Amino acid sequence: MSNFKVKDHFFHKAKKENFLARSVYKLEEIDERFKIIKKGDQIIDLGYHPGSWIQYTAEKIGKDGIVIGSDIKEINNKLLNLSNVRLFQKDVFTIETMAELGVSDQFDVVLSDMAPNTTGIQSVDQIRSLNLVEMVFSLLPRFLKPGGHLVIKVFESNDAQVFLKTQRKHFEDFHNLRPKSVRSVSKEYFVIGKNFRP
Ligand SMILES: C[S@@+](CC[C@H](N)C(=O)[O-])C[C@H]1O[C@@H](n2cnc3c(N)ncnc32)[C@H](O)[C@@H]1O
Repeated sequence: MSNFKVKDHFFHKAKKENFLARSVYKLEEIDERFKIIKKGDQIIDLGYHPGSWIQYTAEKIGKDGIVIGSDIKEINNKLLNLSNVRLFQKDVFTIETMAELGVSDQFDVVLSDMAPNTTGIQSVDQIRSLNLVEMVFSLLPRFLKPGGHLVIKVFESNDAQVFLKTQRKHFEDFHNLRPKSVRSVSKEYFVIGKNFRP
């Protein structure tokens, strides 16, 4: 299948199924394979905008769960009708306490589909992306409960591989996945950490 067709297929599927972005199919594939999200979970979605991961997660956790999204972009009003969703307009790296998010317990799952502003210069983009990934890992002891799971977007580079190797020990299982809906020109893939051991 050509690139164009892949894009076309997931774009139209998202539209038809009322998802705010085609990225939803990345999370869906990850979740189906690795069983990340369950009923009643309390979840944080770092860099949620426009919010297809929030839509998917809100449905999956049900009314007893809660999903918190934070993004530097303005809050997406299209999500405000979902009763188990709370949204913040914040740079996630400025959040210092759980109380700021209106919760007291650590999260069952941390999701991050964040991407840096890209320049098109590969070496610069790789460094920015890795920097973001390292910063998310540094947040985990504050946000993720022992036994919790992580899904994080990473851009391929040697340095990213080296860094991720150092983080394996903090999880019982560590997996890489490049979902089918990732465009073939993209260097992105996802790291899935199961059962956090801080
Ligand atoms: C690829 S989009 C997320 C798409 C989303 N998963 C969905 O399904 O709709 C990445 C988002 O990360 C956000 N982002 C990047 N750095 C951030 C930061 N430091 N704090 C909060 N959000 C950030 C961007 O504003 C952007 O909206």
